Amino acid sequence: MEEKTAKCSNQEWLDQVYDKLLVKMKAECERVGSNIPYTTGEDGKYHDITETPWGKTPDGGTHVSFWTNGFWPGMLWQMYEATGDEAYKTAAVGVEERLEEVLKDSESVGHDLGFLFLQSSVANYRKTGNAQARQRGLVAACELASRYNLDGRFIRAWPGPRHNRMSEMMGGGDIRGWMIIDCMMNLPLLYWASRELDDPRFTKIAVNHARTAQKYIVRPDGSCNHIVAFDPDTGEYLTNPGGQGYKQGSSWSRGQSWAVYGFALSYRHTGDQSFLDTAKQCAHYCIANMAVSGWLPLVDYRQPAEPLKYDSTAAMCTACGLLEIAGHVDENEARFYTEAAYQILRACDAKFANWDPEQDSITTGGTFFYHDPTGENTEVPIIYGDYFFIEAILRLKGKSLFEW
Ligand code: GLY
Repeated sequence: MEEKTAKCSNQEWLDQVYDKLLVKMKAECERVGSNIPYTTGEDGKYHDITETPWGKTPDGGTHVSFWTNGFWPGMLWQMYEATGDEAYKTAAVGVEERLEEVLKDSESVGHDLGFLFLQSSVANYRKTGNAQARQRGLVAACELASRYNLDGRFIRAWPGPRHNRMSEMMGGGDIRGWMIIDCMMNLPLLYWASRELDDPRFTKIAVNHARTAQKYIVRPDGSCNHIVAFDPDTGEYLTNPGGQGYKQGSSWSRGQSWAVYGFALSYRHTGDQSFLDTAKQCAHYCIANMAVSGWLPLVDYRQPAEPLKYDSTAAMCTACGLLEIAGHVDENEARFYTEAAYQILRACDAKFANWDPEQDSITTGGTFFYHDPTGENTEVPIIYGDYFFIEAILRLKGKSLFEW
């Protein structure tokens, strides 16, 4: 860490980062516009998702259904909120219009409808009141609700036939009965739809899913499974495949961050104290682990010592979750969670941030999953790392848009 940055107060650090953010995001927005970025190419620049493997169909066509495609508009709406610069809004609306295609192809997307449409259409509606954006958000919420398994009381994670590439990648099994911790972050789309339509059905689905996650995903020590498999016909619990972490029974750090932030958000939307308690339980587990690794999250908190692999995206999302919890507790407790968030953000800034405005992406060090056979998705820039970094910085500055 640079001497100057290491010694300054949290407030000084925050002000410096905010100033760098304004410069970097202005340049990035001018370059990227309504393209949809995921990671940078060898040239250090973002390329549209349709030019990458994440936006190609098996027959050589293109699609925009990849789960991360809402994060760029989410960043743009955050920057619009903070600065009022119309260029951010124009680019965000351009992406949202492209994402409409996802709503016409129900089979192309699973539970990720929240990630895709909270940060695009719902953010637009919240900020501008645009009726078309509201309509897109509501269609997305109906689609998400339709993934609910009545007997298992969970939202199915991924689309497609019972045995497909996704289930093979995650250790095999009938994917139709799988729920995953990530979905906690998609539930706010349902809470929003319930309020918007004055219709409790969406919230009931979200609450039932969250209770199933409490029961089968969160372990007593605050660590989490990534996936839980149920019989899709009867809803009976079967097993917990390993997923994107090190192995079955381990503790994938981004999954942990989805739990911290996701349960805190379910508390915000429902007032159910048990959700805040679960968020804290998972938060304490993350804090205890990060405190002994320089506040930098490993890809899996139970991975072997070698090779040493980090995931900065887990750090950024955990920090946002801690700041969310801080908003629902008394002053003393809030200081504890806020200080932990600062530690994480400052450690990641020191190790992983790239503030060069000529290059795209701020946070390097993002890892998609522990067992990446290509090595191409280990400690690289990933768009949602930047989204959560920006959200955290703007929250601390009191300039963020609530997008969940
Ligand atoms: N939601 C997928 C992931 O976190 O990688």
